[in-house]
Amino acid sequence: MEKSNGRRVIMFPLPLQGCINPMIQLAKILHSRGFSITVIHTRFNAPKATSHPLFTFLEIQDGLSETETRTDDNTWLFTLLNRRCETPFRDCLTNLLGSSSDSETERISCLIHDSGWTFFTRSVAKSLKLPRLVLNTYTVSFFLNHFALPKLRREVSLLSQDSEQDNLVQDFPPLRKKDLLRILKEKREYLEPYLNMILETTKSSSGIIFMSCEELEQDSLCKAREDFKVPIFAIGPSYSNFPASSSSLFIQDETCIPWLDKQEDKSVIYVSFGSLISMTGPELTEIACGLRNSGQPFLLVVRVGLVKGTEWIEAIPEELMAKVYEKGKIVKWAPQQEVLKHQAIGGFLTHNGWNSTVESVREGVPMICLPCIWDQFVDARLVSDVWRVGLHLEHRIERNEIESSIRSLFSGSEGEAIRESMRLLKEKVGRSVKENGSAYRSSESLIDHISYF
Ligand code: UDX
Repeated sequence: MEKSNGRRVIMFPLPLQGCINPMIQLAKILHSRGFSITVIHTRFNAPKATSHPLFTFLEIQDGLSETETRTDDNTWLFTLLNRRCETPFRDCLTNLLGSSSDSETERISCLIHDSGWTFFTRSVAKSLKLPRLVLNTYTVSFFLNHFALPKLRREVSLLSQDSEQDNLVQDFPPLRKKDLLRILKEKREYLEPYLNMILETTKSSSGIIFMSCEELEQDSLCKAREDFKVPIFAIGPSYSNFPASSSSLFIQDETCIPWLDKQEDKSVIYVSFGSLISMTGPELTEIACGLRNSGQPFLLVVRVGLVKGTEWIEAIPEELMAKVYEKGKIVKWAPQQEVLKHQAIGGFLTHNGWNSTVESVREGVPMICLPCIWDQFVDARLVSDVWRVGLHLEHRIERNEIESSIRSLFSGSEGEAIRESMRLLKEKVGRSVKENGSAYRSSESLIDHISYF
């Protein structure tokens, strides 16, 4: 850390792995530039304070019951959290500002909260006269366009009659119609009011931070600047300089690293579906079978809870399991950033959460895309159709499809072209986060911006 600059930033992540990791990365960047950090967090999915001894962690009551935390409907969960956290958050922030006004050596600069925290962050920060920035953990293109989803939902009957499912959605590029239909299938009763609140809360902020960069999303960033009219900082993906693996909510199985050490260079396909999605037992079996039949060694992450109603991997039939272990390793949670960096990794079968997607780009690992919910469909189209650094499974979770996509990625001419595009993209994005690159300069502007408050 640079010498303390006498300023503290308050950070307020949404309690999901995919939102905590980028917030902690940002905290590390700011801390390295002299800012002290306080993280306000809910009891649900609380980050491990002991992993970050240089930050202060303050827990607020979220009032969620055990049953409520197990819901599949994230919009409902976030709506509930937004309702229940208002008073505890206000009390916590008021206390912090009260004690900091007595300090002669340090003052609180601003609040940075996840875009999923809405109205109350605006009213609380406004009443306490605290500048407020929004961290967005999606792609810029998804964030910009997802406000159109309620309108698109009303037009869904028109869409489903359309036979041209591969066409781009005009209001939502690079999404195709078939992707949009899948997003709209998700049960999200509270969607419209929740999105309206996000839009208002973001527009009235003092700035928006994206973990993306000009090299990945130049046009969308231009549009975001026009639409939002507040300063926009595209600072990432800078995680290699500031790893977030220490912010894992799960216990990482480190045995995969010595296992990878024994595999040939660029031979292993890594398979993981992040922290949120679930699938059926037969789907997991198809994936395991496709991996096994591909002949490539593989590292498969099966998170507890990935297959609902099971303990872990018992959905995979016993006779298949014996074959799976001939070339594969299965773990409950991997140190993903280390895994992707490993020389043995040659491909990543992913659900395309934004963190997984950019981590793969940063390490130059070509992808096979199997998006399942929400922003993942946009990320997957960027990977397969725009940057051309991966293949798209087109939602076919079938053993033959999985086997042939792995074969194409590892040995076909298409795979070769994809690896070359990925090599170039990795270089471009790598330059962006280095000194004088666009993401680096954007981080510098962010630091100037909040130092000014
Ligand atoms: C969620 C949403 O699903 C995603 O669509 C959105 O973009 C972010 O929030 P999640 O599903 O967890 O995120 O996926 P992702 O964004 O990829 O984040 C997962 C994080 O967990 C990554 O930083 C990854 O490195 C880490 N991880 C994942 C591990 O450390 N080990 C694992 O085994 C799997």
